[in-house]
Amino acid sequence: MKGSELYDDPDFLSGYRQLRRDRLGLNDSLEIPAMNAVLPAVEGLRVVDLGCGEGRLAVRLASGGAEVVAVDASEQMLAAASRHPRVRYVRADLAEFDLPPESVELVVSSLALHYVEDFSGLVGRVARWLTPGGTFAFSIEHPVVTAPLVAADCVVDDYADEGPRQRAWFVDGVIKYHQTLGTVLGVLRQHGFRLNVVDEPLPTAEQVERHPHLAVHRRRPPLLLVSAVR
Ligand SMILES: C[S@@+](CC[C@H](N)C(=O)[O-])C[C@H]1O[C@@H](n2cnc3c(N)ncnc32)[C@H](O)[C@@H]1O
Repeated sequence: MKGSELYDDPDFLSGYRQLRRDRLGLNDSLEIPAMNAVLPAVEGLRVVDLGCGEGRLAVRLASGGAEVVAVDASEQMLAAASRHPRVRYVRADLAEFDLPPESVELVVSSLALHYVEDFSGLVGRVARWLTPGGTFAFSIEHPVVTAPLVAADCVVDDYADEGPRQRAWFVDGVIKYHQTLGTVLGVLRQHGFRLNVVDEPLPTAEQVERHPHLAVHRRRPPLLLVSAVR
């Protein structure tokens, strides 16, 4: 199942929402603090959030004074999204979504772009949307996690074979796209971005002591977070 339809699947969605409610995902412990650390001051900025889900990041940015367009393919995620007067939600597939050139100062995306097949095509559009000096900050599943054709914890395999991967995550057949770290960073450079931050957020030993389910994420990095400037 592709990312554009996955989050409207009732079985997947109930599992995913439970994970977020129980705070057992990577979002609260790793991704959100790492993303907050790379975001610029957003007062007065025009921002796009790609794969916004239920809008937590979009609302945080709007609360900081940004005007946010928050994009997601899932009807269910958008229906449950938090409202804010400076957030405009748009239902669209990231494979096609487009904006006028130089119309935003910041593009963000949390844990959504590993569902996009044509990463380079999307990065090319993001480069066009951004004003000169604008920032693109995104997190994805780490390439060492997406690599194996057959999912196995802490086994890096098939690294060079970029392309779709099928995973079981609440439902069978979830499709994500693997690319090497070199490809991810190289695509940004090809589209004129200068890398600002490349981060692999990891839990601290203290976090693992308090939340033992995070232990696996000290064995291999679960996330890649990049901030790049146009
Ligand atoms: C893991 S959730 C992250 C949601 C949100 N960014 C957050 O951090 O809470 C991934 C989101 O990406 C969206 N998504 C996946 N593939 C997409 C696509 N091709 N077009 C638009 N949205 C997509 C899903 O609907 C889902 O809401």
